[in-house]
Amino acid sequence: MKWCSSHLPILLLLSVLSLFISRAAGFRICAYNVQNFNPSKANNYLVLHTLTKVVSRCDICLLQHVVDPDSTAIKTVVETLNRYDEYQYQSVSSKSLGKSPDDMQQYVFIYRTNTVNMTGQHQYTKKNSFVREPFVVQFQSSNTNINEFILVPLHTDPAKAVQEIDWLYDVFEEVSTKWNNTNVMFLGDFHASCAYVTRQDRKNIRLYTDPNFSWLIGDREDTTVTDETNCAYDRIVVHGQSFLKEIVPFSGRVFNFGRRFKTSMKRVLELSDHFPVEVRLKGSALHLQATPLLSLLGVSVIVWSFLPDL
Ligand SMILES: *[C@@H]1O[C@H](CO)[C@@H](O)[C@H](O)[C@H]1NC(C)=O
Ligand SMILES: *[C@@H]1O[C@H](CO)[C@@H](O)[C@H](O)[C@H]1NC(C)=O
Ligand SMILES: *[C@@H]1O[C@H](CO)[C@@H](O)[C@H](O)[C@H]1NC(C)=O
Repeated sequence: MKWCSSHLPILLLLSVLSLFISRAAGFRICAYNVQNFNPSKANNYLVLHTLTKVVSRCDICLLQHVVDPDSTAIKTVVETLNRYDEYQYQSVSSKSLGKSPDDMQQYVFIYRTNTVNMTGQHQYTKKNSFVREPFVVQFQSSNTNINEFILVPLHTDPAKAVQEIDWLYDVFEEVSTKWNNTNVMFLGDFHASCAYVTRQDRKNIRLYTDPNFSWLIGDREDTTVTDETNCAYDRIVVHGQSFLKEIVPFSGRVFNFGRRFKTSMKRVLELSDHFPVEVRLKGSALHLQATPLLSLLGVSVIVWSFLPDL
């Protein structure tokens, strides 16, 4: 047939292009300090709307400073996502953690069930250590090359930030042994900047002194919302060369959704005084999914290229 030969190059180009673009889109992991996210925040329609927009960009999103012991707020978030998003989501939460009854917080991971399996969870419990001990989760995704990896969340107590970040090394040893997996990522609001962690403090932090750990959010980033503070509090760190190789280069960044979604600073602050941070993993070539927009584009180009022959 005539069209076969004349349009084959276009079709080929399109599939290569879509392959390239969806590959570049990769698998996104996010961490967001949602500053006292509780049922009353979840009942605010505008706050909920913004939060679901942020979370729905991520294959896995860690939320910190969640105050939701009855799980009603997170249930609302997950239900809203499942009603409106093209993916299905689930959440896994730690218990309420903290040293004083009026400041108990949870770590919550929300993840897409279409692209991610949870394969293990572990609450770090060493006495006299963290104020909010990491609630560690192992995930598996055939959409990534790395396949199975461990996420260690941390929202430090600001006054103990140096010590708590250093202790992440002990958590690393415990969980990498437990699951025989050294593909470990640490993420969250470490307060790893400004007055809480100075350049001089780094010699006391094993995640800095051991070259096997790579810090993916730079010191010059500003993970805070207001203009008064300019601090790289929120971080993502990975262990090992093999995990580092599977990170999309330069994908570690702050997601300023005020700018992206054209949301006013006032509205951003209703949700949190932090911005989320994120990183992308390289996707496995066998499980590519073209984005809806791209498929639409592809279909219209194909239709358009047939028209002259009809
Ligand atoms: C999740 O696990 C199931 C059962 O092992 C497997 O068939 C599926 O491919 C996994 N999903 C992903 C995205 O890796
Ligand atoms: C641990 O993982 C390594 C490399 O993935 C593998 O060769 C080894 O057999 C595993 N050990 C155990 C006890 O499962
Ligand atoms: C870094 O990792 C390698 C391979 O796992 C290990 O042999 C080495 O001791 C580690 N480096 C440090 C400083 O711990």
